[in-house]
Amino acid sequence: MSQAQASIALIGGTGFYRFIDSAGEVTVETPYGKPSAPISIAEVAGHSVAFLPRHGRNHDFLPSEVPYRANLWALKELGVRQVLAFNTVGSLQRDYRKGDFVLVDQFVDRTRRRQDTFFSGTQAAHISSATPYCARMREIAAKALTGADATVHPAGTVVVIEGPRFSTTAESRWFSQQGWHLVNMTQYPEVVLARELELCYANLSYITDYDVAAADVTDGERAEAVSHAGVLQAFSADSSRVMDIVQRIVGALPAQTDCGCQHALQGALT
Ligand code: ADE
Repeated sequence: MSQAQASIALIGGTGFYRFIDSAGEVTVETPYGKPSAPISIAEVAGHSVAFLPRHGRNHDFLPSEVPYRANLWALKELGVRQVLAFNTVGSLQRDYRKGDFVLVDQFVDRTRRRQDTFFSGTQAAHISSATPYCARMREIAAKALTGADATVHPAGTVVVIEGPRFSTTAESRWFSQQGWHLVNMTQYPEVVLARELELCYANLSYITDYDVAAADVTDGERAEAVSHAGVLQAFSADSSRVMDIVQRIVGALPAQTDCGCQHALQGALT
């Protein structure tokens, strides 16, 4: 393990390819190949924070192609113990509005073609996924955002689709009828890989659209069905507010912490 360079990491999503000016940059090789991009290290509220754009700096990786295992392994190599993952998401419910933030607490996995464990063969890890996102980090984040210029939902269930296509009307209607709140393409397997590495991992989602089904029911006004250009446009129009929200959360996290997530493999290995 190399010398610790950061204790907290931020993973950026679609549109979020750079963070505040970095003090340096590191390239990390892992047993799973290279991460999506060189990792930049920045000072945020007295913390050394590692930033990694999930899709690469120029949106180089499709959701199914993101090197999720290399990304998390590299962050752990740098000494990271707490990961704040940012995603743009579509809303499936009318009370989750475009421009709102969500501290996701559950996922439903509808992906099909992703490597979602570091273990294999006789060495398997049956980690618990009952509470897949770090409850301690979510609570800190919710408190840090009290009084912020934002509607923040303290919980929400995201359904993660394989992509790269968006959902059909029938799929979107079905997701919505299940009571799931959000839809996205990249929250899985990142969240469970982080748990296998015993990292604390929380997700901040930003709603850019009403997917397909919910686009019919936004206060009787028909919103546009989701498009990639629409997602990018919604994020870039509000990116300075997103940066402010992210920095508030990162600034509220303790540099060192002990948490159940950091003992996730206890009793889980075969
Ligand atoms: N990312 C942002 N909006 C999305 C949507 N509607 N479906 C899947 N991924 C998304």
